[in-house]
Amino acid sequence: MRVRVFADPGVLARALAANISRALADDPALVLGLPTGRTPIPLYRELVRLHRAGRADFSRAATFNLDEFLGLDPRDPHSYRAFMQRQLFDHVNLPPRRIHFLNGATRDVEHECRRYERAIERAGGIDLQILGLGMNGHIGFNEPGRALVARTHCTRLKPATRRANAALFDNRVSAVPREALSMGMATILHAKRIVLVATGATKARCVQRMIEGPVTPRLPASFLQLHRNAEVWVDQGAAGNYPTRRSSFRRSSTSSPIASRTTSCARRRRESDCV
Ligand code: GLP
Repeated sequence: MRVRVFADPGVLARALAANISRALADDPALVLGLPTGRTPIPLYRELVRLHRAGRADFSRAATFNLDEFLGLDPRDPHSYRAFMQRQLFDHVNLPPRRIHFLNGATRDVEHECRRYERAIERAGGIDLQILGLGMNGHIGFNEPGRALVARTHCTRLKPATRRANAALFDNRVSAVPREALSMGMATILHAKRIVLVATGATKARCVQRMIEGPVTPRLPASFLQLHRNAEVWVDQGAAGNYPTRRSSFRRSSTSSPIASRTTSCARRRRESDCV
């Protein structure tokens, strides 16, 4: 994985928004995979700014969001769909028919998951997938466990994930749905390019294990190590104590490949849990 370290979340967001606007200029019909959460908010703010300045045209682009809470109507203000409307969709020129979302209000979960997979396929796959990182190493809502699910599916949320999402529900953890729909790990790994963004010191431990630890379903983000075009963009906080002696992770805004390394069995065992 290639890692880029930025001075702070604002610098990172500006660089990533500029990168996305260049990708849109190169391919106006770009298919973007998008995350929710606190992390991408500065990125969406920057994209809106670039759009208003005439430097990001979404008129031929398409988007697929990673996940949605089960049982919430898209118009519910607590839904991820409503979050995306507020943060990005209401402020740029994405045609509504090219905004794709899992419908949390579906009565037929299986059908809804298949529909989403087919829609991604019909769009020609995801060109650029932006990801956040859950505190327990989840991406989308692919939660840590003994095994991961390959394709779009319904998943039970871990208590820690429900707590982390409580802010969207006026800080009432009990109001956070217990289940969600999410793209699967293979759906994510099929994207042509992936950029995972993590900011803040609370993510540092997870970031390190994602990059240096073993590929394990107990830390779903570690599967990104298998992707040939995956990048990790972090701020100084999430970079933690890097560079370590064993890593080529650099404190600069330039890309640097993470050196392949040997990790002792004992250390691998210690790293098998993120939280
Ligand atoms: C949620 C989302 C993830 C997101 C994660 C991190 O659980 N389902 O897609 O990456 O939160 O959120 P934050 O960016 O707020 O730390």
